[in-house]
Amino acid sequence: MKLLYEGKAKQIYETENPNEILMHYKDDATAFNGLKKDQIHNKGILNNKISTMIFGYLKDNGIETHLIKTLNERDQLCRKVEILPLEVIVRNVFAGSASKRLGIEEGVPCKEPIFEICYKCDELNDPLINDTHAIAMGIATREELNRVWELTAQINQLLIKLFDSVGVRLIDFKIEFGKDADGNIMLADEISPDSCRLWDKDTNEKLDKDRFRREMGNVEEAYIEICKRLTKEEA
Ligand code: C5P
Repeated sequence: MKLLYEGKAKQIYETENPNEILMHYKDDATAFNGLKKDQIHNKGILNNKISTMIFGYLKDNGIETHLIKTLNERDQLCRKVEILPLEVIVRNVFAGSASKRLGIEEGVPCKEPIFEICYKCDELNDPLINDTHAIAMGIATREELNRVWELTAQINQLLIKLFDSVGVRLIDFKIEFGKDADGNIMLADEISPDSCRLWDKDTNEKLDKDRFRREMGNVEEAYIEICKRLTKEEA
């Protein structure tokens, strides 16, 4: 199969159907825009399971996604979409770059969710932009951004509910959107502990990629814990 694109944690392959792609989950982990690199044992398998579960839940709740079906431990068959070069970030609790930039302690709840977009560009370190930048740069139209924000707000509410039901606080997360040939905007990429901050509701223990970024240890164990709680099966 022809490799179409290789990202930091996934590979995208061509399939026989021109409207579909295969998304392969690797164990590679990077942080700080690739400056820190390592492997997390079984991460690809765990993220595939976790993202499959979450995308299935979102679909059941009316959110259109690119996922067609999960093929095996590491591969998903997805609709081919044109990915908008935007990282859409939602924050329910201050943490990470927002805490640093705004001088607000990690763990302080946001009075309202914060919605951010960053321009996906490694060379520029994914700079924070706003809607007018995205429109001016030709990344998306006003109508497309309105749809992105409508879906993002719905996804946030659904994810808060899902994680709360398994004893996890959804601190923040990053999602990506794609556009199909008819111009429909839909959720793409993945949702996993790589792209979310997830804290245990009772202990505030971090169950996400911050364990890797901050060298806290027990990274695989944290991903296993999220997988177990979401899928109710042994990871
Ligand atoms: O680093 P920052 O605090 O801006 O990250 C906010 C959220 O977006 C975190 O959940 C982080 O895991 C996610 N994120 C991501 N990919 C990036 C940047 C942030 O998944 N390139």
